[in-house]
Amino acid sequence: MRITVIGCGYLGAVHAACMAQLGHEVLGIDVDQAKIDALAAGQAPFYEPGLPELLAEASATGRLRFSTDMADAADYDAHFIAVGTPQKKGENAADLRFVDAAVTELARHLKPGAVVIGKSTVPVGTARRLAELVKAAQPSAELAWNPEFLREGFAVEDTLRPDRLVYGLPTGDGGIKAKQTLDEVYTVALGNGTPLVATDYETAELVKVSANAFLATKISFINAIAEVCEATGADVTQLADAIGFDTRIGRRFLNAGLGFGGGCLPKDIRAFMARAGELGADQALTFLREVDAINLRRRSRAVDLTREILDGSLAGKRVAVLGLAFKPDSDDIRDSPALDVAGQLQMQGAEVIATDPKAIPNARRQYPELTFMESTPAAIAGADAVVLLTEWKEYRALDPAATGELVRGKAILDGRNVLDPAAWRAAGWRYRALGRP
Ligand code: UGA
Repeated sequence: MRITVIGCGYLGAVHAACMAQLGHEVLGIDVDQAKIDALAAGQAPFYEPGLPELLAEASATGRLRFSTDMADAADYDAHFIAVGTPQKKGENAADLRFVDAAVTELARHLKPGAVVIGKSTVPVGTARRLAELVKAAQPSAELAWNPEFLREGFAVEDTLRPDRLVYGLPTGDGGIKAKQTLDEVYTVALGNGTPLVATDYETAELVKVSANAFLATKISFINAIAEVCEATGADVTQLADAIGFDTRIGRRFLNAGLGFGGGCLPKDIRAFMARAGELGADQALTFLREVDAINLRRRSRAVDLTREILDGSLAGKRVAVLGLAFKPDSDDIRDSPALDVAGQLQMQGAEVIATDPKAIPNARRQYPELTFMESTPAAIAGADAVVLLTEWKEYRALDPAATGELVRGKAILDGRNVLDPAAWRAAGWRYRALGRP
Protein backbone atom coordinates (compact mmCIF):
# COMPACT_ATOMS: atom_id res chain seq x y z
CA MET A 1 0.00 0.00 0.00
CA ARG A 2 1.00 3.61 -0.44
CA ILE A 3 0.81 5.20 2.99
CA THR A 4 1.94 8.36 4.75
CA VAL A 5 2.79 8.77 8.41
CA ILE A 6 2.23 12.32 9.62
CA GLY A 7 4.32 13.14 12.68
CA CYS A 8 7.71 11.41 12.95
CA GLY A 9 8.34 11.34 16.71
CA TYR A 10 8.75 8.26 18.95
CA LEU A 11 5.54 6.80 17.54
CA GLY A 12 5.50 7.97 13.92
CA ALA A 13 9.14 7.35 12.99
CA VAL A 14 8.92 3.76 14.24
CA HIS A 15 5.56 3.22 12.55
CA ALA A 16 6.88 4.58 9.22
CA ALA A 17 9.99 2.39 9.29
CA CYS A 18 8.01 -0.72 10.31
CA MET A 19 5.38 -0.18 7.60
CA ALA A 20 8.14 0.07 4.97
CA GLN A 21 9.73 -3.06 6.40
CA LEU A 22 6.41 -4.86 5.91
CA GLY A 23 6.50 -3.99 2.21
CA HIS A 24 4.45 -0.80 2.03
CA GLU A 25 5.51 2.34 0.15
CA VAL A 26 5.86 4.92 2.93
CA LEU A 27 6.21 8.69 3.11
CA GLY A 28 6.97 10.14 6.57
CA ILE A 29 5.95 13.78 7.01
CA ASP A 30 6.93 16.15 9.82
CA VAL A 31 7.16 19.94 10.20
CA ASP A 32 10.57 19.60 11.91
CA GLN A 33 13.18 19.93 9.13
CA ALA A 34 16.05 18.67 11.34
CA LYS A 35 14.12 15.50 12.21
CA ILE A 36 13.25 14.87 8.55
CA ASP A 37 16.86 15.46 7.47
CA ALA A 38 18.09 12.94 10.05
CA LEU A 39 15.50 10.33 9.08
CA ALA A 40 16.14 10.84 5.36
CA ALA A 41 19.83 10.21 6.06
CA GLY A 42 18.85 6.95 7.79
CA GLN A 43 19.53 8.28 11.30
CA ALA A 44 17.12 7.93 14.21
CA PRO A 45 16.49 11.37 15.79
CA PHE A 46 16.07 9.70 19.22
CA TYR A 47 17.23 6.50 20.91
CA GLU A 48 15.10 3.44 20.28
CA PRO A 49 16.67 -0.04 20.15
CA GLY A 50 16.52 -1.55 16.65
CA LEU A 51 15.33 1.62 14.93
CA PRO A 52 18.65 2.62 13.27
CA GLU A 53 18.99 -0.86 11.74
CA LEU A 54 15.39 -0.79 10.57
CA LEU A 55 15.78 2.69 9.05
CA ALA A 56 18.87 1.57 7.19
CA GLU A 57 17.13 -1.55 5.83
CA ALA A 58 13.93 0.25 4.91
CA SER A 59 15.74 3.16 3.24
CA ALA A 60 17.83 0.72 1.19
CA THR A 61 14.64 -0.78 -0.27
CA GLY A 62 13.66 2.68 -1.58
CA ARG A 63 10.23 2.23 0.05
CA LEU A 64 10.77 4.79 2.83
CA ARG A 65 10.97 8.50 2.09
CA PHE A 66 10.51 11.66 4.13
CA SER A 67 9.21 15.17 3.51
CA THR A 68 8.18 18.37 5.30
CA ASP A 69 5.59 19.20 2.63
CA MET A 70 2.05 17.93 3.22
CA ALA A 71 1.28 18.43 -0.49
CA ASP A 72 3.50 15.39 -1.13
CA ALA A 73 0.82 13.28 0.59
CA ALA A 74 -1.66 13.95 -2.22
CA ASP A 75 -1.35 10.71 -4.17
CA TYR A 76 -1.16 8.32 -1.21
CA ASP A 77 -4.05 6.01 -0.23
CA ALA A 78 -3.84 5.80 3.57
CA HIS A 79 -2.59 8.44 6.02
CA PHE A 80 -1.60 7.72 9.61
CA ILE A 81 -1.84 10.63 12.06
CA ALA A 82 0.92 10.16 14.65
CA VAL A 83 1.49 13.67 16.01
CA GLY A 84 1.74 14.40 19.74
CA THR A 85 -1.12 15.27 22.10
CA PRO A 86 0.79 16.77 25.06
CA GLN A 87 -0.79 18.08 28.24
CA LYS A 88 -1.97 21.70 27.98
CA LYS A 89 0.12 24.12 30.03
CA GLY A 90 -1.48 24.65 33.44
CA GLU A 91 -4.38 22.29 32.71
CA ASN A 92 -5.04 18.56 32.78
CA ALA A 93 -6.59 18.44 29.31
CA ALA A 94 -4.78 17.28 26.18
CA ASP A 95 -3.57 19.88 23.72
CA LEU A 96 -5.09 18.91 20.37
CA ARG A 97 -3.63 21.66 18.30
CA PHE A 98 -1.11 19.43 16.51
CA VAL A 99 -3.72 16.79 15.63
CA ASP A 100 -6.16 19.45 14.45
CA ALA A 101 -3.50 21.19 12.35
CA ALA A 102 -2.28 17.92 10.80
CA VAL A 103 -5.76 16.71 9.81
CA THR A 104 -6.87 20.17 8.57
CA GLU A 105 -3.79 20.50 6.39
CA LEU A 106 -3.94 16.90 5.18
CA ALA A 107 -7.66 17.19 4.30
CA ARG A 108 -6.81 19.83 1.66
CA HIS A 109 -4.69 17.29 -0.21
CA LEU A 110 -6.73 14.08 0.11
CA LYS A 111 -7.51 12.26 -3.11
CA PRO A 112 -10.92 10.61 -3.59
CA GLY A 113 -11.29 7.41 -1.58
CA ALA A 114 -8.30 8.08 0.70
CA VAL A 115 -8.42 6.80 4.30
CA VAL A 116 -7.15 8.87 7.24
CA ILE A 117 -6.14 6.71 10.22
CA GLY A 118 -5.67 8.34 13.62
CA LYS A 119 -3.01 6.83 15.89
CA SER A 120 -2.44 9.68 18.35
CA THR A 121 -3.96 9.31 21.82
CA VAL A 122 -6.98 11.63 21.86
CA PRO A 123 -9.89 12.49 24.16
CA VAL A 124 -13.04 10.53 23.32
CA GLY A 125 -15.10 12.42 20.74
CA THR A 126 -12.14 13.68 18.73
CA ALA A 127 -12.42 11.11 15.92
CA ARG A 128 -16.07 11.91 15.24
CA ARG A 129 -15.26 15.62 15.03
CA LEU A 130 -12.28 15.03 12.72
CA ALA A 131 -14.32 12.69 10.49
CA GLU A 132 -16.64 15.61 9.72
CA LEU A 133 -13.67 17.76 8.87
CA VAL A 134 -12.32 15.10 6.49
CA LYS A 135 -15.72 14.56 4.84
CA ALA A 136 -16.20 18.30 4.34
CA ALA A 137 -12.91 18.49 2.42
CA GLN A 138 -13.14 15.16 0.53
CA PRO A 139 -16.60 13.49 0.67
CA SER A 140 -15.35 10.12 -0.54
CA ALA A 141 -12.53 9.93 2.05
CA GLU A 142 -12.95 8.03 5.32
CA LEU A 143 -11.50 8.36 8.80
CA ALA A 144 -10.68 5.49 11.17
CA TRP A 145 -9.11 5.50 14.65
CA ASN A 146 -6.45 2.89 15.26
CA PRO A 147 -4.83 3.44 18.67
CA GLU A 148 -1.24 2.46 19.25
CA PHE A 149 -0.04 0.42 22.23
CA LEU A 150 3.72 0.38 21.67
CA ARG A 151 6.12 0.77 24.56
CA GLU A 152 9.23 2.87 24.18
CA GLY A 153 12.27 0.64 24.29
CA PHE A 154 10.27 -2.14 22.57
CA ALA A 155 8.66 0.05 19.92
CA VAL A 156 9.91 -1.85 16.86
CA GLU A 157 8.89 -5.23 18.25
CA ASP A 158 5.51 -3.91 19.43
CA THR A 159 4.78 -2.36 16.02
CA LEU A 160 5.80 -5.40 13.97
CA ARG A 161 4.16 -7.88 16.35
CA PRO A 162 1.35 -6.03 18.22
CA ASP A 163 -0.58 -7.95 20.90
CA ARG A 164 -3.86 -6.66 19.49
CA LEU A 165 -5.26 -4.34 16.83
CA VAL A 166 -8.14 -1.97 17.49
CA TYR A 167 -10.07 -0.25 14.69
CA GLY A 168 -12.54 2.55 15.44
CA LEU A 169 -14.69 2.68 12.30
CA PRO A 170 -17.52 4.76 10.88
CA THR A 171 -20.84 3.00 10.24
CA GLY A 172 -22.05 1.77 6.84
CA ASP A 173 -20.06 1.43 3.62
CA GLY A 174 -17.45 3.91 4.85
CA GLY A 175 -16.66 1.56 7.72
CA ILE A 176 -16.36 -1.44 5.40
CA LYS A 177 -13.95 0.45 3.16
CA ALA A 178 -11.86 1.78 6.05
CA LYS A 179 -11.63 -1.72 7.50
CA GLN A 180 -10.47 -3.15 4.16
CA THR A 181 -7.71 -0.55 4.04
CA LEU A 182 -6.60 -1.29 7.62
CA ASP A 183 -6.70 -5.05 6.99
CA GLU A 184 -4.45 -4.55 3.98
CA VAL A 185 -2.01 -2.41 6.00
CA TYR A 186 -1.87 -5.07 8.73
CA THR A 187 -1.97 -8.19 6.49
CA VAL A 188 1.12 -9.66 8.13
CA ALA A 189 -0.01 -9.15 11.74
CA LEU A 190 -3.53 -10.43 10.98
CA GLY A 191 -2.02 -13.44 9.18
CA ASN A 192 -0.07 -14.20 12.36
CA GLY A 193 -3.32 -14.40 14.30
CA THR A 194 -3.17 -11.00 16.04
CA PRO A 195 -6.53 -10.42 17.76
CA LEU A 196 -8.62 -7.65 16.19
CA VAL A 197 -11.34 -5.58 17.83
CA ALA A 198 -13.29 -3.66 15.18
CA THR A 199 -15.58 -1.15 16.84
CA ASP A 200 -16.88 2.44 16.79
CA TYR A 201 -14.80 5.59 17.21
CA GLU A 202 -15.66 6.21 20.85
CA THR A 203 -14.83 2.69 22.02
CA ALA A 204 -11.50 2.72 20.15
CA GLU A 205 -10.54 6.06 21.71
CA LEU A 206 -11.54 4.85 25.17
CA VAL A 207 -9.69 1.53 24.80
CA LYS A 208 -6.43 3.41 24.54
CA VAL A 209 -6.85 5.71 27.53
CA SER A 210 -8.43 2.95 29.63
CA ALA A 211 -5.42 0.71 28.98
CA ASN A 212 -3.01 3.41 30.12
CA ALA A 213 -5.21 4.32 33.09
CA PHE A 214 -5.22 0.66 34.15
CA LEU A 215 -1.44 0.38 33.86
CA ALA A 216 -0.96 3.60 35.84
CA THR A 217 -3.40 2.35 38.49
CA LYS A 218 -1.55 -0.95 38.78
CA ILE A 219 1.75 0.86 39.38
CA SER A 220 0.24 3.29 41.87
CA PHE A 221 -1.52 0.43 43.65
CA ILE A 222 1.77 -1.30 44.38
CA ASN A 223 3.38 2.03 45.29
CA ALA A 224 0.58 2.74 47.77
CA ILE A 225 1.22 -0.70 49.28
CA ALA A 226 4.93 0.22 49.34
CA GLU A 227 4.05 3.19 51.56
CA VAL A 228 2.32 0.84 53.98
CA CYS A 229 5.29 -1.54 53.81
CA GLU A 230 7.56 1.35 54.77
CA ALA A 231 5.38 2.05 57.79
CA THR A 232 5.55 -1.57 58.96
CA GLY A 233 8.93 -2.90 57.87
CA ALA A 234 7.44 -5.23 55.25
CA ASP A 235 9.04 -5.85 51.84
CA VAL A 236 6.96 -4.76 48.84
CA THR A 237 9.03 -6.72 46.29
CA GLN A 238 8.34 -10.03 48.04
CA LEU A 239 4.72 -8.99 48.48
CA ALA A 240 4.44 -8.25 44.72
CA ASP A 241 5.98 -11.64 43.89
CA ALA A 242 3.49 -13.35 46.16
CA ILE A 243 0.35 -11.60 44.89
CA GLY A 244 1.64 -11.79 41.31
CA PHE A 245 1.46 -15.60 41.36
CA ASP A 246 -2.30 -15.19 41.28
CA THR A 247 -2.85 -15.12 37.50
CA ARG A 248 -5.86 -12.84 38.00
CA ILE A 249 -3.42 -10.24 39.37
CA GLY A 250 -0.22 -11.05 37.45
CA ARG A 251 3.30 -9.90 38.34
CA ARG A 252 3.84 -7.47 35.44
CA PHE A 253 3.60 -3.74 36.17
CA LEU A 254 3.82 -4.40 39.89
CA ASN A 255 7.34 -3.06 40.29
CA ALA A 256 7.25 -0.59 43.15
CA GLY A 257 9.71 2.27 43.16
CA LEU A 258 9.90 5.78 41.80
CA GLY A 259 6.71 5.32 39.80
CA PHE A 260 5.66 6.11 36.28
CA GLY A 261 6.63 8.94 33.97
CA GLY A 262 7.08 9.46 30.26
CA GLY A 263 5.13 11.11 27.50
CA CYS A 264 2.06 8.89 27.91
CA LEU A 265 0.87 7.55 31.28
CA PRO A 266 0.95 10.82 33.31
CA LYS A 267 -0.63 13.05 30.68
CA ASP A 268 -3.09 10.41 29.54
CA ILE A 269 -4.64 9.88 32.98
CA ARG A 270 -4.90 13.65 33.43
CA ALA A 271 -6.51 14.16 30.02
CA PHE A 272 -8.88 11.27 30.75
CA MET A 273 -10.02 12.94 33.99
CA ALA A 274 -10.44 16.28 32.20
CA ARG A 275 -12.51 14.69 29.42
CA ALA A 276 -14.69 12.76 31.89
CA GLY A 277 -15.35 16.11 33.62
CA GLU A 278 -16.48 17.68 30.35
CA LEU A 279 -18.81 14.71 29.79
CA GLY A 280 -20.33 15.01 33.26
CA ALA A 281 -18.74 11.72 34.35
CA ASP A 282 -15.95 13.18 36.49
CA GLN A 283 -16.93 11.14 39.56
CA ALA A 284 -16.13 7.94 37.67
CA LEU A 285 -12.48 8.86 37.42
CA THR A 286 -11.73 10.70 40.66
CA PHE A 287 -9.65 7.67 41.69
CA LEU A 288 -7.16 8.66 38.98
CA ARG A 289 -6.42 11.83 40.93
CA GLU A 290 -5.22 9.57 43.74
CA VAL A 291 -3.27 7.42 41.28
CA ASP A 292 -1.47 10.57 40.13
CA ALA A 293 -0.90 11.78 43.71
CA ILE A 294 0.54 8.44 44.91
CA ASN A 295 2.85 8.47 41.91
CA LEU A 296 4.16 11.98 42.56
CA ARG A 297 4.60 11.27 46.30
CA ARG A 298 7.18 8.58 45.48
CA ARG A 299 9.45 11.24 44.06
CA SER A 300 9.51 13.33 47.24
CA ARG A 301 9.91 10.14 49.28
CA ALA A 302 13.05 9.34 47.25
CA VAL A 303 14.46 12.77 48.04
CA ASP A 304 13.65 12.28 51.77
CA LEU A 305 15.30 8.86 51.81
CA THR A 306 18.41 10.28 50.16
CA ARG A 307 18.57 12.89 52.89
CA GLU A 308 18.14 10.11 55.46
CA ILE A 309 21.06 8.03 54.17
CA LEU A 310 23.13 11.22 54.26
CA ASP A 311 22.52 11.64 58.00
CA GLY A 312 19.77 14.19 57.64
CA SER A 313 21.25 16.81 55.34
CA LEU A 314 21.71 17.19 51.60
CA ALA A 315 23.58 20.48 51.84
CA GLY A 316 26.96 20.29 50.13
CA LYS A 317 26.75 16.50 49.74
CA ARG A 318 27.86 14.95 46.50
CA VAL A 319 25.11 12.71 45.13
CA ALA A 320 25.69 10.43 42.13
CA VAL A 321 22.43 10.06 40.20
CA LEU A 322 22.27 6.92 38.06
CA GLY A 323 19.61 7.26 35.39
CA LEU A 324 17.73 10.24 33.96
CA ALA A 325 15.44 8.72 31.32
CA PHE A 326 11.85 7.91 32.40
CA LYS A 327 12.69 4.25 31.87
CA PRO A 328 15.61 2.14 30.61
CA ASP A 329 16.31 1.74 26.89
CA SER A 330 14.98 5.19 26.13
CA ASP A 331 16.45 8.70 25.95
CA ASP A 332 13.02 10.17 26.69
CA ILE A 333 12.95 12.50 29.71
CA ARG A 334 9.34 13.68 29.40
CA ASP A 335 7.90 13.74 32.95
CA SER A 336 10.81 11.56 34.05
CA PRO A 337 10.68 10.66 37.76
CA ALA A 338 14.49 10.28 37.73
CA LEU A 339 15.17 13.72 36.33
CA ASP A 340 12.60 15.24 38.65
CA VAL A 341 14.34 13.71 41.69
CA ALA A 342 17.76 14.78 40.41
CA GLY A 343 16.49 18.36 40.07
CA GLN A 344 14.92 18.34 43.55
CA LEU A 345 18.12 16.98 45.15
CA GLN A 346 20.12 19.77 43.55
CA MET A 347 17.54 22.40 44.54
CA GLN A 348 17.69 21.20 48.14
CA GLY A 349 21.42 21.77 48.32
CA ALA A 350 23.09 18.59 47.09
CA GLU A 351 25.77 18.64 44.42
CA VAL A 352 24.28 16.30 41.83
CA ILE A 353 26.54 14.41 39.43
CA ALA A 354 24.18 12.68 37.03
CA THR A 355 24.70 10.05 34.39
CA ASP A 356 22.61 8.04 31.95
CA PRO A 357 23.59 5.86 28.99
CA LYS A 358 21.43 7.80 26.51
CA ALA A 359 19.48 10.68 28.05
CA ILE A 360 22.23 13.17 28.98
CA PRO A 361 21.76 15.50 25.96
CA ASN A 362 17.99 15.76 26.60
CA ALA A 363 18.45 16.12 30.37
CA ARG A 364 21.08 18.84 29.96
CA ARG A 365 18.68 20.93 27.88
CA GLN A 366 16.06 20.78 30.65
CA TYR A 367 18.37 21.03 33.70
CA PRO A 368 21.57 22.81 32.60
CA GLU A 369 22.42 23.43 36.26
CA LEU A 370 23.14 19.74 36.93
CA THR A 371 26.61 18.27 36.36
CA PHE A 372 26.65 15.40 33.87
CA MET A 373 29.20 12.63 33.44
CA GLU A 374 29.20 10.19 30.54
CA SER A 375 30.61 7.24 32.45
CA THR A 376 29.19 5.57 35.54
CA PRO A 377 32.53 5.39 37.41
CA ALA A 378 33.14 9.11 36.75
CA ALA A 379 29.69 9.98 38.14
CA ILE A 380 30.18 7.79 41.20
CA ALA A 381 33.74 8.87 42.03
CA GLY A 382 33.89 10.66 45.36
CA ALA A 383 30.12 10.52 45.95
CA ASP A 384 28.64 10.71 49.44
CA ALA A 385 25.60 8.80 48.21
CA VAL A 386 24.58 6.91 45.08
CA VAL A 387 20.94 6.98 43.97
CA LEU A 388 19.72 4.57 41.30
CA LEU A 389 16.70 6.16 39.62
CA THR A 390 16.35 4.43 36.21
CA GLU A 391 17.01 0.68 36.09
CA TRP A 392 19.38 0.47 33.09
CA LYS A 393 20.99 -2.96 32.82
CA GLU A 394 24.46 -1.63 33.64
CA TYR A 395 23.23 -0.14 36.95
CA ARG A 396 21.47 -3.36 37.93
CA ALA A 397 24.78 -5.14 37.40
CA LEU A 398 26.85 -2.80 39.62
CA ASP A 399 29.20 -4.63 41.92
CA PRO A 400 28.92 -3.42 45.54
CA ALA A 401 32.59 -4.02 46.35
CA ALA A 402 33.97 -2.32 43.22
CA THR A 403 31.52 0.58 43.55
CA GLY A 404 32.55 0.94 47.19
CA GLU A 405 36.15 1.59 46.08
CA LEU A 406 35.05 4.69 44.15
CA VAL A 407 32.85 6.55 46.61
CA ARG A 408 33.47 8.75 49.64
CA GLY A 409 30.45 7.43 51.53
CA LYS A 410 28.90 3.98 51.14
CA ALA A 411 25.23 5.01 51.05
CA ILE A 412 22.86 3.88 48.30
CA LEU A 413 19.22 4.48 47.46
CA ASP A 414 17.75 1.83 45.17
CA GLY A 415 14.90 3.84 43.64
CA ARG A 416 13.76 0.95 41.43
CA ASN A 417 14.18 -2.05 43.75
CA VAL A 418 16.60 -3.80 41.41
CA LEU A 419 19.64 -4.38 43.63
CA ASP A 420 20.23 -7.20 46.10
CA PRO A 421 20.01 -5.53 49.54
CA ALA A 422 21.89 -8.39 51.27
CA ALA A 423 24.87 -8.15 48.89
CA TRP A 424 25.13 -4.37 49.27
CA ARG A 425 24.82 -4.48 53.04
CA ALA A 426 27.38 -7.28 53.23
CA ALA A 427 29.81 -5.03 51.34
CA GLY A 428 29.38 -2.37 54.02
CA TRP A 429 26.78 -0.17 52.33
CA ARG A 430 23.93 1.66 53.99
CA TYR A 431 21.17 0.46 51.63
CA ARG A 432 17.69 2.00 51.42
CA ALA A 433 14.87 1.40 48.97
CA LEU A 434 11.25 2.41 48.46
CA GLY A 435 8.90 -0.03 50.16
CA ARG A 436 11.60 -2.27 51.64
CA PRO A 437 12.97 -2.41 55.15
C1 UGA B 1 3.03 3.20 27.89
C2 UGA B 1 2.21 1.91 27.76
O1 UGA B 1 2.85 0.85 28.46
C3 UGA B 1 2.07 1.52 26.29
O2 UGA B 1 1.24 0.39 26.17
C4 UGA B 1 1.42 2.70 25.55
O3 UGA B 1 1.29 2.43 24.17
C5 UGA B 1 2.29 3.92 25.72
O4 UGA B 1 2.41 4.24 27.12
C6 UGA B 1 1.63 5.06 24.99
O5 UGA B 1 0.55 5.50 25.39
O6 UGA B 1 2.13 5.46 23.93
P1 UGA B 1 5.64 3.74 27.81
O7 UGA B 1 5.27 5.14 28.17
O8 UGA B 1 6.64 3.52 26.72
O9 UGA B 1 4.33 2.92 27.39
O10 UGA B 1 6.25 3.09 29.12
P2 UGA B 1 5.87 1.93 30.16
O11 UGA B 1 6.68 0.76 29.87
O12 UGA B 1 4.40 1.78 30.26
O13 UGA B 1 6.42 2.59 31.50
C7 UGA B 1 5.81 3.78 32.00
C8 UGA B 1 6.43 4.16 33.31
O14 UGA B 1 6.00 3.29 34.33
C9 UGA B 1 7.95 4.16 33.36
O15 UGA B 1 8.36 5.35 34.00
C10 UGA B 1 8.28 2.94 34.18
O16 UGA B 1 9.47 3.08 34.89
C11 UGA B 1 7.09 2.87 35.12
N1 UGA B 1 6.80 1.52 35.66
C12 UGA B 1 6.47 0.52 34.82
C13 UGA B 1 6.88 1.30 37.03
O17 UGA B 1 7.18 2.22 37.81
N2 UGA B 1 6.59 0.06 37.51
C14 UGA B 1 6.24 -0.97 36.70
O18 UGA B 1 6.00 -2.08 37.22
C15 UGA B 1 6.19 -0.73 35.32
